[in-house]
Amino acid sequence: MADPQQHPAPYVQWFRNSAPYINAHRGRTFVVHFGGEAIESGAFATLIHDFTLLDSLGIRLVLVHGARPQIDARLAAAGLDATFSEGVRVTSAQALGRVVEANAAARVRVETLLSMGLPNSPMAGAKIRVSSGNFLVARPLGVRRGIDFGHSGELRRVDTEAIRSHLDQGSIVLISPIGYSPTGEVFNLHAEEVAREVAVQLNAAKLVHLCEETPIADASQSPLRELTVDEAEALLERRRSAPREASGTRLIAGAVRACRNGVKRVHLLDRGTDGALLLELFTRDGVGAMVSADAYDATRRATLADIGGVLELIAPLQAEGWLAERSRENLESEMDRYVVVERDGAIIGCAALFTYPESDMAELACLAVDASYRNAGRGDVLLEAIEREARDTGASRLFALTTRASHWFKERGFRDGRVEELPPPRRHAYDPTRRSKVMFKSLTGNRDADVRSTAAPAPVS
Ligand SMILES: CC(C)(COP(=O)(O)OP(=O)(O)OC[C@H]1O[C@@H](n2cnc3c(N)ncnc32)[C@H](O)[C@@H]1OP(=O)(O)O)[C@@H](O)C(=O)NCCC(=O)NCCS
Repeated sequence: MADPQQHPAPYVQWFRNSAPYINAHRGRTFVVHFGGEAIESGAFATLIHDFTLLDSLGIRLVLVHGARPQIDARLAAAGLDATFSEGVRVTSAQALGRVVEANAAARVRVETLLSMGLPNSPMAGAKIRVSSGNFLVARPLGVRRGIDFGHSGELRRVDTEAIRSHLDQGSIVLISPIGYSPTGEVFNLHAEEVAREVAVQLNAAKLVHLCEETPIADASQSPLRELTVDEAEALLERRRSAPREASGTRLIAGAVRACRNGVKRVHLLDRGTDGALLLELFTRDGVGAMVSADAYDATRRATLADIGGVLELIAPLQAEGWLAERSRENLESEMDRYVVVERDGAIIGCAALFTYPESDMAELACLAVDASYRNAGRGDVLLEAIEREARDTGASRLFALTTRASHWFKERGFRDGRVEELPPPRRHAYDPTRRSKVMFKSLTGNRDADVRSTAAPAPVS
């Protein structure tokens, strides 16, 4: 990013745009999983800084680390083979000691970096508390298809009460994939599964996997972006019937399980991308793949197929006088001026832009959000889309006519205006019986512009 002293605008804009996300994430529990490869990498200290930043923004952070390369190195040094079956390590009695050592070393490395606070480092002044403990109760995987997995185990229970109490005290909780049994045995667990189960049992808002290999969409080979759980399941189904193994299948299957069991969003990020975690969490479009438990909204240009949905949305508002009457015929001829918010196939929001080429003005009209979906920033999303479009047409002022939402507009940088100020065609079409207020907003980005009008819409992630 450019030096903020020299070029303040992008910096300020970026900071403002992050604000809704900062507010939305505060107090939420995020479980972040990273493999042992991340700990080995030269960029690990930077990743740790990002963790501390999340912590300082009030996110309740649970970190789950892996240690596969560290275990492999120790086994090799001891002359022991690394044995896997179906992607799961077989942990012999001799290997168990190396597994415990590797995890302990990995944990100490993370704790060390989280404890650093040198004055000239990005963590200066940050007092980070880290808590680890016997949070995981495990049992042996046992013998499967003739393979004895030895000391490899599966999770039986997560001590969520203990984890929550550490989070309540402001600590980052760090979990190694090691489980303990009531009989006093130690088990080697799969870090990815531990992270998922911890997220499920904590009812976490987000589970984030920092992946070594990012999942791709089958057909285009392009990276996956947003998927609902249903879409992710359909993708897995297609992969089951297709012979070629595409990357990330196991992670996507795990994301579906997590979302089906109460985690709201699962993010799959490329660990190698600098700042991936921050870009994903604090920008509208993110950088990774996201599987979401509830369907997400799509804001897009309307097509003729949306007429039914828009009519259904605005009919009750027209009946109550909130919006001016618009017939089906009107909508048919004007649909290309509408932007709609679609959720699960239903139109839950709309707004239209009308231009007046003889003037420098454009009109925001027919702004509506379904009553069940209000107060979640969708009105802002629509306003922002219309403002952007109006600017693109060269308009320097946006106006709206409203009977009951004048304060909504005022809070977004509009000011009261007079009918006489309207462009002549609109002035002549003004219906005095509705007694709508006329509100104007400058689009030239002057100093009076309301922050809310420049900030990103409330996050959907
Ligand atoms: C106005 C409208 C589009 C806002 O949609 P929304 O998705 O709820 O908007 P947002 O989530 O971005 O904003 C919600 C905020 O606006 C406030 N708000 C909603 N309607 C308001 C109104 N009529 N007057 C003043 N404030 C209002 C809410 O209280 C909330 O504020 P808060 O978060 O401080 O409590 C929606 O209420 C609506 O469809 N209203 C009926 C149609 C209408 O009047 N359209 C405008 C005429 S063109």
